[in-house]
Amino acid sequence: MPKKIFSGVQPTGNLHLGNYLGAIKNFVDLNNDNQNKCIFCVVDLHAITVKQDKDQLKNNILETAATFIASGIDPSKSIIFNQSKVTAHAEASWMLSCIAPMGWLNRMTQFKEKAGKDKEKASVGLYIYPILMASDILLYDATHVPVGEDQKQHLELTRDIAQKFNKDFNCNDFLKVPEPLIKKNFSRIMSLKDGLKKMSKSDPSDLSRINLTDTKDEIINKIKKAKTDSFPIPNEEHKLKDRPEAENLLGIYSSILNQNLDKSLDEFGGKNFSDLKRDLAEILCNKISPISDEIKRLINEKEYLDEVLIQGASKAEEIAAKKIKEMKKLIGF
Ligand code: AMP
Ligand code: TRP
Repeated sequence: MPKKIFSGVQPTGNLHLGNYLGAIKNFVDLNNDNQNKCIFCVVDLHAITVKQDKDQLKNNILETAATFIASGIDPSKSIIFNQSKVTAHAEASWMLSCIAPMGWLNRMTQFKEKAGKDKEKASVGLYIYPILMASDILLYDATHVPVGEDQKQHLELTRDIAQKFNKDFNCNDFLKVPEPLIKKNFSRIMSLKDGLKKMSKSDPSDLSRINLTDTKDEIINKIKKAKTDSFPIPNEEHKLKDRPEAENLLGIYSSILNQNLDKSLDEFGGKNFSDLKRDLAEILCNKISPISDEIKRLINEKEYLDEVLIQGASKAEEIAAKKIKEMKKLIGF
């Protein structure tokens, strides 16, 4: 069975190595498999769940599309579009909001993290954000959804919502229950400054992440300054327990090279972090700099990027409009 792939990335700036290794690199592999039908969405409706600057949002939408293409997603093979261009996402989101119980949403840990201490001030949009994500996926009958580890709970909710809709409206297999595609290893890249914190766009310290637009010098400097501990690198995986920074740097190294952790432990076991950092900086420069250069080139080709998004939206619209029409019929509209 060919896979139908759907995934999304928020255009909120600072796309980083975590986004790349946790998600975008897997998008590229899925795009390259001719059996798959892939849709990659710049989820701009999700971005406005927190306040955005208008001009910056516009640039970030184009930069996210540029990042997809620069990383190797081919717009003639995969659909690339931005969510706000296809109205069915917002419509489906309302309808699914009306069947998803509050109890399910109250369990979402990402809302709790993002809303912080003052939950009363968080937008309603941020609270129902996972329902919009479920709509994205269900509108396209996606069978597989590649994401980083932090989206696992949202995908479980998506599955529950699909099943509840099918049951409530007595329509057996109408909404397809999707499978998450989360890499067993390396699906959670941590901050370079604190191995217990996720690498994140919003970390105030730029040294905590490798941005996909960083230059070689910036990459080398950030790896040099990455936090480590004071012991040599172990040669067995179980010895990485309670050594989150060592585990993270070795994880990044392994993931970039597509090799398992054991092989990296064989290479560096007994050595010092300076050896690992030297090699890691080199492979990161080789992998990330060409992407960074290509993003910077594409970002100046605004007309081309606009055209990719227009074409993508038109193909997405065709699929989503059909599904929303059937959904409305089932509800009784
Ligand atoms: P976002 O930037 O929140 O829209 O995330 C886009 C994709 O990147 C999602 O699939 C996330 O799960 C993934 N992602 C974000 N941060 C990380 C990270 N630190 N490690 C691995 N994957 C991540
Ligand atoms: N919520 C995801 C994130 O923050 C982005 C997203 C929105 C998404 N819609 C999606 C991911 C649909 C996969 C499928 O990372």
